[in-house]
Amino acid sequence: MSELKNDRLLRALARQPVDVTPVWMMRQAGRYLPEYRQSRAQAGDFLSLCKNNEFACEVTLQPLERFDLDAAILFSDILTIPDAMGLGLYFETGEGPKFRKPVRTEGDVSALKVPDPDADLGYVMGAVRTIRSALAGRVPLIGFSGSPWTLATYMVEGGTSKDFRTIKRMMMAEPETLHALLGKLAESVTSYLNAQIRAGAQVVQIFDTWGGVLSARDYEAFSLGYMRQIIAGLLRESEGRKVPVIVFTKNGGQWLETIADSGADAVGLDWMTDIGRARARVGDYVALQGNMDPATLYGSPERIRAEVADILARYGQGPGHVFNLGHGIALDVDPDHAKVFIDAVHELSAPYHQ
Ligand code: CP3
Repeated sequence: MSELKNDRLLRALARQPVDVTPVWMMRQAGRYLPEYRQSRAQAGDFLSLCKNNEFACEVTLQPLERFDLDAAILFSDILTIPDAMGLGLYFETGEGPKFRKPVRTEGDVSALKVPDPDADLGYVMGAVRTIRSALAGRVPLIGFSGSPWTLATYMVEGGTSKDFRTIKRMMMAEPETLHALLGKLAESVTSYLNAQIRAGAQVVQIFDTWGGVLSARDYEAFSLGYMRQIIAGLLRESEGRKVPVIVFTKNGGQWLETIADSGADAVGLDWMTDIGRARARVGDYVALQGNMDPATLYGSPERIRAEVADILARYGQGPGHVFNLGHGIALDVDPDHAKVFIDAVHELSAPYHQ
């Protein structure tokens, strides 16, 4: 494996000094890029892009050709695990992901098989290896998975939900069934992330997109507890380096102390959280990632630079910050505005690292 030429991300995640604050964007490869739309048209659809190593590699690298990013993120999806469990994932235009066979009963849960990542999700590991080789050490590669709770919301609801009433009914009326499902998912996620690490992922992020719809007590019992179990089972070193873990719970700002205590190296923040106050609460224990409102990219270049300056000032002097958006980039953002954002982070952060 080639030597890593830009290790800012790994240094910031370890809270070690950096020259400037590293930056990447959630969903940095995607529909806001015309070159992505072209690759997708060639591949046919989104899942074909994910399942073909060359296409997955091509679209992973597209944002790096345009912008001075400090990380690449594997092009894939969190729903690859339930897909490998046989739920029949498909995408309906404008309606997001759907499953042909949602999980509703105890029988459905006991019939689920924990996937073997190398056999059943070999295309993901192939993509990781292809991307690592194409990166040739330019920047680190981030692997990822959904959290058990977030995956379960899609599996039980059968797709995207606004009120989560089906899974919450299961949680309240049949908690053992949901715990059985979450247990299988925790096992699946652990072996999936470990397989990504063996294939070459240098950082892993757990997307807990829907943890924030739970009460504080249920968040601990149905989401964070399973993430803690996963983190405890992860390979924490590969190729002679530490493999940091980032946990991103959208709407998790109230629970920073418990998330920081999960064993994660970094906590991803959404834009509703004040990063300066977050640092005061947990900055001695973890690095922080975030947290510009993705909608800022609809603003003028001046507005974007002002927001970057504000977040840098709130975080303050010294290491431990990875700049990112507070959630994924929107599909109708002007790519030139993303460039303004990324350049502003590097340019305006230098004084905070002197
Ligand atoms: O960040 C990256 O660039 C890596 C790729 C990535 C994708 N999905 C690609 C994708 C990552 C990290 C994800 C994670 C993901 N997928 C999450 C968690 C992250 C988050 O946003 O909190 C979730 C909830 C999903 C499930 C999912 N997949 C949704 C809701 C959608 C959007 C459906 C739609 O029609 O808007 C997808 C599809 C998807 N995943 C796209 C991309 C680029 C769009 C596919 C396309 O139409 O080309």
